Amino acid sequence: MGFPKNRMRRLRSSAAMRRLVRETSLSVDDFVYPLFVREGEGLKEPIKSMTDCFHFSPDTVAVEAAEVASLRIPAVLLFGLPGKKDDIGSEAWAENGVVQRAIREIKKAAPQLLVITDVCLCGYTDHGHCGVIKDGKIDNDATCELLAKVALAHAQAGADIVAPSDMMDGRVKYIREALEENDFKDVAIMSYAAKFASAFYGPFRDAAESAPSFGDRKSYQMDVSNSDQAMREIALDIAEGADIVMVKPALPYLDIICRARQRFDCPIAAYNVSGEYMMLNSAADAGLLDKQAAMLEMLTAIKRAGADILITYFAKDVAKRI
Ligand code: PBG
Repeated sequence: MGFPKNRMRRLRSSAAMRRLVRETSLSVDDFVYPLFVREGEGLKEPIKSMTDCFHFSPDTVAVEAAEVASLRIPAVLLFGLPGKKDDIGSEAWAENGVVQRAIREIKKAAPQLLVITDVCLCGYTDHGHCGVIKDGKIDNDATCELLAKVALAHAQAGADIVAPSDMMDGRVKYIREALEENDFKDVAIMSYAAKFASAFYGPFRDAAESAPSFGDRKSYQMDVSNSDQAMREIALDIAEGADIVMVKPALPYLDIICRARQRFDCPIAAYNVSGEYMMLNSAADAGLLDKQAAMLEMLTAIKRAGADILITYFAKDVAKRI
């Protein structure tokens, strides 16, 4: 054993050799591309806080979705910005809500593309929290009832996968029951199971106009210090009927992805969030690193940690490169 019989550099000696022994490769099949849709017509407005991301209207988001499908990316993830907000976020489950209309348009323009919808209230409530407020606190069970209505409205409009991102306890159970009772038994649930109260959502909250108007999300999203608790969150969501579980953010939480991979055998998604995306874009804009190389390295690391599904604003860029 040992040197010189073993020379690790032999397996790195040429590009072909490196390809032959490569353990992790990115595939277009792994990617989900997030899209923002707002009320209006003919819109494609650049989002200031997020490079190369846009606010679309339901008609133009369908054109964009068709392009995503033509790049062979299997799925998009929709976020809605409603025309009006109220204290319970009622636009989120309105039959003609902006996401519901976008789903129908996308299904016409790109029938083979999977449509995943973010199920949450924060973009729809005037206070910006992910749930309804009673006596100054987020009411868990009352919120779950509304989230089930949102998920059902998305399913009725044609969503293939609903993705609750609120972090209320029991929401997956409420949603699964609502889908079963209304004969949407084939609609999958991708739960944001281990979602941390992260500072890396900053650029997204500008994009989705969903920053809380008071306080923070620490009473529902996870404490960044916890790993055992993330395993409990994931186990509970699977028990309640989640088909895919997500860890979010991705890059600062590779340990959580790795642990979840070892412990659970359902598909694991990782969300490479807005702050991770803009950290890299900003560094590249400042001339500090090679954007394409850093992007591929970051996404490969997330997959190597154990993620099956990568949700990223880089998805189109990567699809053009691999
Ligand atoms: C909604 C939601 C958020 C993100 C996805 N869904 C924001 C938040 O929880 O504050 C963040 C996505 C990103 O930063 O790219 N609850």
